[in-house]
Amino acid sequence: MIFGRVKPLDAILATAEKRGLHRSLGAFQLTMLGIGAVIGTGIFVLTSEAAQKAGPGMMLSFVIAGFVCAVAALCYSELASMVPVAGSAYTYTYAVIGEPLAWMVGWALILEYALGASAVAVGWSGYFVGLLAHLSSFVPFLPDIAIPQWLAVGPSQGGLINLPAVVVSMLVTWLLVLGTSESAKVNAILVGVKILALTLFIAITLPAANGANFTPFMPTHLSGVAGAAASIFFAYVGFDAVSTAAEETKNPQRNVPIGLIASLGICTIFYLLVAAGAIGSPLGAQPVMDAAGRLLDPGTPELAARCQQIIAGGALEPLSCSKEALAHILRVFGWPIAGNFLAAAAIIALPSVVLMMMFGQTRVFFTMARDGLLPARFAAVHPKFHTPHVITIVTGVVVTIAAAFAPVGQLANYSNSGTLFAFAMVSIAVLVLRRTDPSRKRPFRTP
Ligand code: ALA
Repeated sequence: MIFGRVKPLDAILATAEKRGLHRSLGAFQLTMLGIGAVIGTGIFVLTSEAAQKAGPGMMLSFVIAGFVCAVAALCYSELASMVPVAGSAYTYTYAVIGEPLAWMVGWALILEYALGASAVAVGWSGYFVGLLAHLSSFVPFLPDIAIPQWLAVGPSQGGLINLPAVVVSMLVTWLLVLGTSESAKVNAILVGVKILALTLFIAITLPAANGANFTPFMPTHLSGVAGAAASIFFAYVGFDAVSTAAEETKNPQRNVPIGLIASLGICTIFYLLVAAGAIGSPLGAQPVMDAAGRLLDPGTPELAARCQQIIAGGALEPLSCSKEALAHILRVFGWPIAGNFLAAAAIIALPSVVLMMMFGQTRVFFTMARDGLLPARFAAVHPKFHTPHVITIVTGVVVTIAAAFAPVGQLANYSNSGTLFAFAMVSIAVLVLRRTDPSRKRPFRTP
């Protein structure tokens, strides 16, 4: 029976030894990979959605979503330090619970990584199209370039194909075929750009924050805070990609837990400071209500219409209405050049998120193919680049097609659901393994 197997940990380790990938990454590079995967559309785009759902209480939403990820990160650390091979949650489930669930986790991870990559590519496309439309205000001697609607968004938003999202997905695929170490170097530079942009945002907004904006703190009560936490969860998706790089890591027992926990910790601190700066800004973060005082849902035509009404009345565009929340806040604060810089940084750096998510995706596919749950040809390693090139290209095609035609919110929701399923299975795997194999060496133990 093909689906009845459990793959013993020692067999997994032996396979990885025999047909493994090149170990080239250290703790610093892993942390950079984690931050590269995590900081992205979530903070740059979804902050306004969180404000609409929770008001200033979105700070609590960031804490709740971060806490869920932190306990998951501890479980990942324990397993990744015991089984330092590619494949992440999929491998752990295979080793501990068995093949049918591992197969399901594999596909959940495909939702997480591939559709997450597509979601970020679509988010990037929005920034990119916006930048081209305002090119002359960034670089005075260049003209504004309007990308026609049919090339700028997918069919559900009245277009035909999201061409910028297609191009960025294909470029990232090409980079990943060239090699892990090269990808990691490019990634480290892009992470630097993102951190610089968020640091600038915090440095400008936080010292001038208006404490009065924090009340009422929870205008939509706890249910609003919980709803925002479910959206903002996407902002943390991706840190677990660090564990998928375990097989390419030097001294993984030590470096993978460091990479997981450090990247998550650093991102959480940035998110809380950015959220505080956003709330304290002149825009505040109170949700937009309709004329009768009812809360409007983010992403609805009703909210869009209300936003238009507010702007037409001469008021500042509220945070909840902005498609480029952080840049908008800086401009309102009287820092237009910093706002433009932040927008440009998002455009330069979001591809690093696409890169990390696709990287994670290829490693899950690679391991599934090596285990016989996908055609063996997928596990081929390129003779010159030492990368799983076949599976990278297959992944690139899937990501590109989804990015070309699907809307960003839907892709992010699929990604979140796949991630939560994988987290649940990893936590169960930790508990099961403590019972079934209590004496195995655990270089990292989850409290
Ligand atoms: N966490 C990643 C982002 O926010 C997926 O874009």
